[in-house]
Amino acid sequence: MSGLEGIPAPPPDERWWQNAVIYEIYVRSFADGNGDGIGDLIGIRRRLPALAELGVDAVWLTPFYPSPMVDGGYDVADYCDVDPTFGTLADFDALLADAHSLGLRVIVDIVPNHTSSAHPWFRRAVHARRGSAEREYYIFRDGRGDGGREPPADWVSIFGGPAWEPVGDGQWYLHLFAREQPDLNWANPAVREEFERILCFWLDRGVDGFRIDVAHGLVKELVDPLPALGELAVDQAAFRGLVTDHPLWDRDGVHEIYRRWRKILDTYRPPRIAVAESWAPPHRLSAYIRPDELHQAFNFAFLRAPWNPDALRDVIDDSLQQAGSVGALPTWVIANHDVVRPASRYALPPQVDPDAWLASNGTFPEIDLATGLQRARAAALLMLALPGAAYVYQGDELGLEEVADLPADVLADPIWRRTGGKVKGRDGCRVPLPWEPAGPSLGFGPTSPWLPQPPQWAKKAWSVQRRDPTSTLSLYCEALRLRRHFPPVAAVTWVDAGPQVLAFRRGEGLLCVVNFSTRPIALPPGRLILRSDRADGGHLPPDTAAWLVPE
Ligand code: NOJ
Repeated sequence: MSGLEGIPAPPPDERWWQNAVIYEIYVRSFADGNGDGIGDLIGIRRRLPALAELGVDAVWLTPFYPSPMVDGGYDVADYCDVDPTFGTLADFDALLADAHSLGLRVIVDIVPNHTSSAHPWFRRAVHARRGSAEREYYIFRDGRGDGGREPPADWVSIFGGPAWEPVGDGQWYLHLFAREQPDLNWANPAVREEFERILCFWLDRGVDGFRIDVAHGLVKELVDPLPALGELAVDQAAFRGLVTDHPLWDRDGVHEIYRRWRKILDTYRPPRIAVAESWAPPHRLSAYIRPDELHQAFNFAFLRAPWNPDALRDVIDDSLQQAGSVGALPTWVIANHDVVRPASRYALPPQVDPDAWLASNGTFPEIDLATGLQRARAAALLMLALPGAAYVYQGDELGLEEVADLPADVLADPIWRRTGGKVKGRDGCRVPLPWEPAGPSLGFGPTSPWLPQPPQWAKKAWSVQRRDPTSTLSLYCEALRLRRHFPPVAAVTWVDAGPQVLAFRRGEGLLCVVNFSTRPIALPPGRLILRSDRADGGHLPPDTAAWLVPE
């Protein structure tokens, strides 16, 4: 399809991240290079040319550090090494060098809210006496009642089950996630120094930036006595920013940490970047991307918005306005390794909670996957037309759906175990990628993968889609190629294209139109350069997006 060939692309510069497309690699599930059924760094290295061909600017690698893998590696036992399952530091260096030579930047995950209980800091803390400097690395409190046998508070962890665990001497430690993920004490300057050293370790190796896990959780306001659960929801809703002014989340104190980190990032040439996984409520998110703080913060309000033009338009306006108030741009995201895949999620009726749907093994309500995929493709064009950066989660470029019916005996997410099998958790969006239409793991590696792939994914394999100009992969390739020519803008202009239609112009050039109605609509005037599905006779079918430029 013809594009914007005449318009020169802006030269890459130090602000590359402002309009970048960054591809999330969930390391366990991307490509298995050593044949143990689990993705690894060698596997990623081999597939980097495919990502360069896809046209992304950078990759974000989920944690590959030594870990007991209780939470897929988000339980780090050593921040400055590579887990043998994933490779070695030499493999990492080689991956980084290859990525750079292909023009891809590399962002690594930093997990500062908690460590693994296998981390030496925690081992030392448990063995040290109460009140010691070692215990000060974590959040220990005396238990209540006789001999401290009762927890300091009745809080529930985000993954289910109690949030306090005893260590045997009357003290308990806080873990907002799994028991094996004790929360660090960021009121302790020693913890801050440790992390500044960890940042420099990876920066000195040449990484281009960090994705900061649970960025809104580091600073906690813990008053004595601790409030009871009735007064304080310590659950998914609080974590996801649905409860405002919560003593555990999004405290003003986190910003001091990120201002300090920004200074460190800026001492490198070219300056390195950081993106916050902050589920702060939308009106508080922009504080994370003030000029002297982080570069990006995932816009989860966009991810959470249902397939509805009014909801999406409100989120887009609000996000642009909030980010603009601090001179920044939003960072758009519709998927990651923690949420139901868009090709399934957008097929759900708006009132259905994706987690509840998962708990029914994806049987209730029944969804129409063809519609879901069509909407996911349209959502991709919508996202990629907006001003600012976008993150693409591996497999979305293949239009993969959530694998909602995984058998219980393969589920690895701690949520499944900690809720006593009530909540299925996030494995369904982490099933290893299909690269080829055949083989024991559809090209993921030489043996069966750690989670089984649905047989219908053979048709969705990367190599199959690459040959098909109508595939979701070809759509993403084309969208990313065209996007390189979009001049950076800070705002959109809404265009009235009829009821149940979102249409906006990006600067003078691109017009993005999305049809949410149940009928085909006439395309506005302009030259069609891309559409998410067929557009016959100047019409745009339901659940379809199109990009047009002036004739
Ligand atoms: C957010 C990560 O994306 C998720 O996978 C992890 O379980 C939690 N943070 C805890 O680290």
